[in-house]
Amino acid sequence: MTDRSSRIEGFYKLPIAERVRIVKDFAGLTDDEAKALTGASVDPTIADRMVENAVGSFPLPLGIATNFRINGKDYLIPMAIEEPSVVAAASNAAKMARDKGGFRTSSTAPIMIGQIQVTGVKDPTTVQNRILEKKADLLSLANNQDPMLVKLGGGARDVEVRTIETREGPNVIVHILVDVRDAMGANAVNTMAEATAPLIEEISGGKVYLRILSNLAVHRLARAQAVWSKEAIGGPEVVEGVMQAYLFAEADPFRCATHNKGVMNGVDAVILATGNDTRAIEAGAHSYAARTGTYKPLTTFGRTQEGDLMGTIELPMAVGLVGGATKVHPTARACVKLLGVKSAQELGEIVASVGLAQNFAALRALATVGIQKGHMTLHAKNIVMSVGCPPELVDEVVKIIVAEKKIRMDRAQEVIAELKRKRGMR
Ligand code: MEV
Repeated sequence: MTDRSSRIEGFYKLPIAERVRIVKDFAGLTDDEAKALTGASVDPTIADRMVENAVGSFPLPLGIATNFRINGKDYLIPMAIEEPSVVAAASNAAKMARDKGGFRTSSTAPIMIGQIQVTGVKDPTTVQNRILEKKADLLSLANNQDPMLVKLGGGARDVEVRTIETREGPNVIVHILVDVRDAMGANAVNTMAEATAPLIEEISGGKVYLRILSNLAVHRLARAQAVWSKEAIGGPEVVEGVMQAYLFAEADPFRCATHNKGVMNGVDAVILATGNDTRAIEAGAHSYAARTGTYKPLTTFGRTQEGDLMGTIELPMAVGLVGGATKVHPTARACVKLLGVKSAQELGEIVASVGLAQNFAALRALATVGIQKGHMTLHAKNIVMSVGCPPELVDEVVKIIVAEKKIRMDRAQEVIAELKRKRGMR
């Protein structure tokens, strides 16, 4: 399996059917799995089981990012996203990273936090100590809720207690740390938080309100790094440009928000394609970015001794392979099979690599030609199609309005009418 190459020259020029064939061969997908990739909408009976009041499904484009080499293994990466240029940018960034070996990754154990809020506490320090004295009881109560998770090597591992000051007095906040293995973990953690709350209430003498997982998953981090050689990315001035772009984000929250948005373009697209929870990942990423009290980039960039560019990323990564949409959504299942991941940690590390690649690609474009050039053709194509252009004229109309720099609906309509007239089309 490791000798499969994701470096597929001219993938973007192939017809969709040919791309599907390549992807199918790459991952050994069945006919049904390949069909699920090509945009089959969710069966209404599945949709009805996933959400309330279902009326249908909402398909998004699914693109495949090529060229990714992560820890010496090649991956084709499914990305579900409505925005043009993202898949191309990730593929391009991954291609440029290959001569230095691609991405190297690591991650922490899949530990999630369940929070239990204790209010009405007179002496928080004494209560904190009392709760910690009962740690073993709390852990065993938590683990009784999920024998399956414990059997799989996971389970509640530790209890932490903090005191916070609210506007109406102190709260003691209990954190149950749970190794959720290959699950996203919300169900397991919430069940444990609810189950331990009565004992916590009894020990503390306070009143418990919230019992819920925290999306600021600081104990469940995915990391990736890559080196882009100056030769591969267009010379020392490009290294300098990306560095300046990074320093801007590091120093300015207005820029940093957009910098991190670029990271999340890549992250969310893989999260969505694999049926994971984009909101959980977004909440985790941005709160992690602000954990010092100042909002900071999720990535870092630096210059190596040779003058190449080194990029790193670290972010919370609450992803699962078992349960939820990942297991029931046919396209998500096919995407997971395409990735060939064996654990949620491996998936998280891939997601981190894509986030880093996406960010690098955006900074490189922004610091050189600007972002609009790359966007132009796809944007023009969207405009042309939105005004009902006959398929056989689309490429020609796009070419004309891009060359004229008039990427507007009214101009697209004029050009379509002119071409139709010339060709005697109705
Ligand atoms: C657009 O979706 C993302 C960018 O704005 C990211 C960035 O500015 O770094 C291009």
